[in-house]
Amino acid sequence: MNISFETIGEREVEASASEFLALIQSIEGSSTTWSAAYLMGLVKSEVNLALAVRMQNSELVGLAIVHAVSAINPLILNEPHLFLRRLVISPHFRRAGIGGALMQRVAATIASDARFGSFSKIGWQTNLNNAGGLAFFSTNGFQPVGRITVGSHVDEIFSMDMEEFHRRLK
Ligand SMILES: CC(C)(COP(=O)(O)OP(=O)(O)OC[C@H]1O[C@@H](n2cnc3c(N)ncnc32)[C@H](O)[C@@H]1OP(=O)(O)O)[C@@H](O)C(=O)NCCC(=O)NCCS
Repeated sequence: MNISFETIGEREVEASASEFLALIQSIEGSSTTWSAAYLMGLVKSEVNLALAVRMQNSELVGLAIVHAVSAINPLILNEPHLFLRRLVISPHFRRAGIGGALMQRVAATIASDARFGSFSKIGWQTNLNNAGGLAFFSTNGFQPVGRITVGSHVDEIFSMDMEEFHRRLK
């Protein structure tokens, strides 16, 4: 598949926020709490990485957003993490290896950027009903470390040592 990666900064959010938000809405529905201002806040935060995946015709097909947190959840794992806030591939382009390629690009970018050097763990969190997301991360070796109740649903929390992350996604 002929794809390219684009680093998303303030300029890209200003130019393409509606396109990014439409992709997020494709999984969260139109009631998503994500907004252009929220997206801008994330890309402006000091330790962050946002990547878009585009097809050759420039169609947006994927998005990954990672940023620093002091803990994913202080009661479960009270350690600084790079947190995968969003990883989404357009529903029409799934199961073609794009999500895996995007994770590899995330790992390579983190390894080459000194801003991420002090982080020894990477993690993420998802709804237990998200079978596809759980299967994808299990394939990539993430282990569950605990569960939390968020409103009416339960989220699984995952964490991985950064060395392991780089080893697996080389
Ligand atoms: C999770 C997600 C990012 C995966 O993207 P993708 O491009 O389809 O992933 P890949 O094609 O690289 O999949 C790699 C492997 O992961 C596993 N996998 C991925 N999606 C799966 C699914 N729905 N069911 C079972 N296994 C799955 C498979 O082992 C797959 O390899 P295979 O296709 O050769 O069997 C995508 O399904 C998505 O955007 N889901 C909605 C958002 C989400 O759940 N994000 C993650 C939590 S924040």
